[in-house]
Amino acid sequence: KTIRKYDMLKYNDVIAVAVSGGKDSVALLYVLDKIERSFQTELVIIHVDEGISNYSEYSTPIIYRHARELGLRVYMTSFKEMFGYTIDDVARSYFEGRIDLEPCSFCGEWRRWCLNYLALKANATVITTAHTLDDFAQTILINVMRNSIAQLFRISIGRSEEMEGFVPRVYPFAELYEKETALYTHLRDLEHNDAPCPYAELSMRWDLRMFLYEQEEKHPGILYNILRFHQNFIGYGKREPIKLRRCDICGYPTPHKICRAHQLKEMLDETTRTVP
Ligand code: FES
Repeated sequence: KTIRKYDMLKYNDVIAVAVSGGKDSVALLYVLDKIERSFQTELVIIHVDEGISNYSEYSTPIIYRHARELGLRVYMTSFKEMFGYTIDDVARSYFEGRIDLEPCSFCGEWRRWCLNYLALKANATVITTAHTLDDFAQTILINVMRNSIAQLFRISIGRSEEMEGFVPRVYPFAELYEKETALYTHLRDLEHNDAPCPYAELSMRWDLRMFLYEQEEKHPGILYNILRFHQNFIGYGKREPIKLRRCDICGYPTPHKICRAHQLKEMLDETTRTVP
């Protein structure tokens, strides 16, 4: 229903499904495979290895087993390969006080970049990710708490604009609770990576997540209310068109001279250069 409501997919799309190996993305893969078998669309799996010990290494074999089961191609890369650092390296710099940003800030930005890179490599026309209603509600509130109005206007469930060098994204689970996608994975007994990310608790998103779980339990429906509030809110404002250019390093569309993913890499390069 969400796919139809927001006009997310076209009949001849090559759909790159971002699969981390966790319960949500495995559920998305099987749901899309089931739906899309009746259309001319093609599915491919894209996966990024973050380089997080006791976490990332469990995902890859699981993803390959699902790909074999469904007969799909897999396109894969890693942060180490693309940026020269693993998230474990980032966390080390963070714990040693050489950078202020916690690992999630790098992970989110680099993941976006890598998924786009892999989707372009796969000639995909759209990327689907398994972000749920819980994720959207958290993102909306994070931007409120940071007073990031421009970012708030950029949050959208529907198909993002076509742009050279940038593969549009859609979020078919945006109106589903995380517990519903988890239930699907469990009921179908789908193999997934259950290990928790060891750095998750360092982020603001984690605190908000716990807070929202509690609130949703006490006042059912608040996650939907946050989403509807955001949709009404952006209806009132005017979204300033952003002038995009190409990143001087990688060519990724960005409003800046260098894209955010490479700004973060440069920040790390700088700190490693200054380490005696
Ligand atoms: Fe953010 Fe793992 S680095 S959840």
